[in-house]
Amino acid sequence: MSEAQERAFAELAPHYLLDVPRDVAWTSVHPEARMDPVAEYGREAPLIVEIGSGQGHAIVSAASSRPDEDFLAVEVFRAGLARTMLDADKAGVRNLRLVEANAPEVLSTYLPEGAATEVWIFFSDPWHKKRHTKRRLIRPGFGDAAARALSDGGLLRLATDWEDYALQMREVLDAEPLFERAFEGEWAERFDGRVMTAFERKGIAKGREIRDLVYRRKPRA
Ligand SMILES: C[S@@+](CC[C@H](N)C(=O)[O-])C[C@H]1O[C@@H](n2cnc3c(N)ncnc32)[C@H](O)[C@@H]1O
Repeated sequence: MSEAQERAFAELAPHYLLDVPRDVAWTSVHPEARMDPVAEYGREAPLIVEIGSGQGHAIVSAASSRPDEDFLAVEVFRAGLARTMLDADKAGVRNLRLVEANAPEVLSTYLPEGAATEVWIFFSDPWHKKRHTKRRLIRPGFGDAAARALSDGGLLRLATDWEDYALQMREVLDAEPLFERAFEGEWAERFDGRVMTAFERKGIAKGREIRDLVYRRKPRA
């Protein structure tokens, strides 16, 4: 990491980065570890979780413009976490925390059940080679983890520049009994709170179409 990124970890991590008990790997989460949002943010407020937050452009912008809500960035890329902390600090953002961990584990055990009012996944790695597509995050079974973390009526928002992955996301989530579409027509409108990131800009420059999706978590029985 660069000097600034090292500084981010030394000076800013104590405020922003959650201290997660690990299981086997560094980015794993111990299955018995549970986040306590009230203790972490010092209040009760709606919680928005971004999976694969990258450099943090979307979540820092959202957290600074929506001070009444709390935000959690989930990312495994250290330099991205450092950038996110530096930008959050510069913007004086206080309602944001970061977790350096594998997203499926955060959704399926670390977050308390029903804790998130929204889960965002923007430009998830497309793993575009045929032999790699099984590594995609949004694949059959993903809905269970996302539904566990979301509150009743909570929203799962997605965007991608990769057509084949967009089709897979829609097919997987349409088949999920715990979710229903929260959009009309083929694709959702661009989500207003989603700012342009480097990944989106790159996709557009390559002539790719950006597709948004939004699904609502059905109420628990
Ligand atoms: C293509 S980038 C998009 C980043 C950001 N959302 C944006 O739009 O700029 C995908 C990000 O997801 C992260 N990621 C991939 N798999 C992950 C996982 N299992 N848990 C947490 N983050 C993950 C990667 O490290 C990468 O930063």
